[in-house]
Amino acid sequence: MTNTFSFASFAVSVCLALAGCSNSKKAISSSEIPSLKETFQKDFIIGTALNGQQIEEKEPNAAVLVPQQFNAITPENIMKAEIIHPEWGKYNFDLADKIVAYGQKHKMEINGHTLIWHSQLPAFVRRMKDADSVRQFFTDHITTIASRYDGKITTWDVVNEALEEDGSLRKSIFLEKLGEDYIVDAFRLAQKAAPNSKLYYNDYNIEQPKKRAGTIAIIKKLKAAGVRIDGVGIQGHWKAYNVPLKDIEESILEYSALGIEVMFTELDLGVLPNPWDSDAADVNMKAEYSAKMNPYPNGLPDSMQVKLTKGYEDLFNLFLKYKKEISRITFWGVNDGQSWLNGWPIRGRTNYPLLFDREFKPKPAFYRVIETKTKGSAKKAF
Ligand code: G3I
Repeated sequence: MTNTFSFASFAVSVCLALAGCSNSKKAISSSEIPSLKETFQKDFIIGTALNGQQIEEKEPNAAVLVPQQFNAITPENIMKAEIIHPEWGKYNFDLADKIVAYGQKHKMEINGHTLIWHSQLPAFVRRMKDADSVRQFFTDHITTIASRYDGKITTWDVVNEALEEDGSLRKSIFLEKLGEDYIVDAFRLAQKAAPNSKLYYNDYNIEQPKKRAGTIAIIKKLKAAGVRIDGVGIQGHWKAYNVPLKDIEESILEYSALGIEVMFTELDLGVLPNPWDSDAADVNMKAEYSAKMNPYPNGLPDSMQVKLTKGYEDLFNLFLKYKKEISRITFWGVNDGQSWLNGWPIRGRTNYPLLFDREFKPKPAFYRVIETKTKGSAKKAF
């Protein structure tokens, strides 16, 4: 299978392999595509991450597709500290204001990503040696940004990726300089600055037992301190051929039992081999390119397309089973060509983790996700 095949023949051949994919026997125009947000409107909000071009509506296909398919948006990068707060006392709100305006125009929820994260910090913070400077940055950063968008940003990832894989606190500049209460302090500041936005803790692999225990400890500590936490975001960077359904189900149950919302905030299902056989999604991990590690440069073979489709089907069946506990599902990017997984952990690979292909056309997995609702396969599966 190569990219020179038409979408129609591609879809038909995949549908034959999958048996039962009846929607894709001809090329599809956008008006014929079912809408994710409408299909799941009684179940959960469906979001996507947007890059700078998309926020500025400079990408015509995304400008049409995003409002048709999604009712929530997350800035993939432009609210990270390095970009929004590049120097002491200097903020760059241009693109952040634009994503808020975009969301308001299309009546979408806006997820602020993210206030406190050890990665993508501006150089002036990375150079800091004394705790007082870090404390001042931390306080000014949260207060200035959260108050500017109070109520306009629906939900904030207040703290992102604060845990190691064993569930202990990550050895970040914030832990080192501010001590282990910094997470409570961050939520307290956000609560004061943004009383009308919901406040979440967001991380990857927190469906895994050890990291889940660490997350539960954070949530309990916040509650014991009388500080508001409204929800937990499970990022959802998984492998299409190995979605940890049991861990995800246990996590939905355990987190929701704490009386908070559960959401899936950065969903993508990668299909490429991982150089370390690891499930981590740490952006600082890198490996060298080799042809062996990039097996599908010209198109996804049917056998892997089937796995991708099944991975998404299983996941959405599970999401529907727990629709009362799950508030939002956000995909990490609009189409395959724009996914961070083409560049991580090895630069220059060709990955296929999302529901829309490089031409913004819906993939077999898209239709199978729609069918979990319209054909009620959730009932059959559970
Ligand atoms: O801004 C520069 C640009 O000037 C330059 O031309 C370009 C050349 O490579 O690089 C640009 O910066 C890149 C940035 O994305 C914007 O495209 C960085 O190198 C690149 O490292 C950065 O990657 C982002 C990564 O977070 C690190 O911040 C990914 O797009 C983004 O998808 C990823 O998202 C994270 C979530 O925030 C947290 N959870 C994990 C998730 C995946 O790593």
